[in-house]
Amino acid sequence: MERVVITEGPEETMELAADLARRLRDGDVVALVGPLGTGKTTFVKGLARGLFIPEEVLSPSFLLARTYLGTKPLHHLDLYRLRHPGELREVGLDELLPPERGVTAVEWADRFPDLIPKGAVWVFLEHAGQNRRKVTIRR
Ligand SMILES: Nc1ncnc2c1ncn2[C@@H]1O[C@H](COP(=O)(O)OP(=O)(O)O)[C@@H](O)[C@H]1O
Ligand SMILES: [Mg+2]
Repeated sequence: MERVVITEGPEETMELAADLARRLRDGDVVALVGPLGTGKTTFVKGLARGLFIPEEVLSPSFLLARTYLGTKPLHHLDLYRLRHPGELREVGLDELLPPERGVTAVEWADRFPDLIPKGAVWVFLEHAGQNRRKVTIRR
């Protein structure tokens, strides 16, 4: 199943993600792909909105991962600075991937596609103008 949407600003991208979040189940993984500034973190902010997470979601680039509590836990990973897949185990982050409870959103998922479980929702973001993004959601 594939859905392609053009969003006209961060708010529309967040609403699209919030809508997706409401239909996710425990153990689901959302794999985000797209160049810098296309809205991967913005999309995760929308997932957080859909899961009624009150905290502000920040870019986890310097942390590798963070967990937020909402109607389901949201594990937010960023593989941008990951050097090798084993590093996830070294820092104990492999536990965040299924079958652990909650939703796991992974930025830069294409860097280590083997880490992403089968059945993940893939979200591809592309620049399509200053405030416009092409968002492809594939499951
Ligand atoms: N349609 C849009 N969807 C998402 N972000 C947008 C859009 N239009 C402009 N932006 C801006 O693009 C930037 C995306 O940043 P961010 O979500 O951190 O991207 P990434 O995590 O992919 O590097 C934000 O400054 C956001 O306000
Ligand atoms: Mg980001």
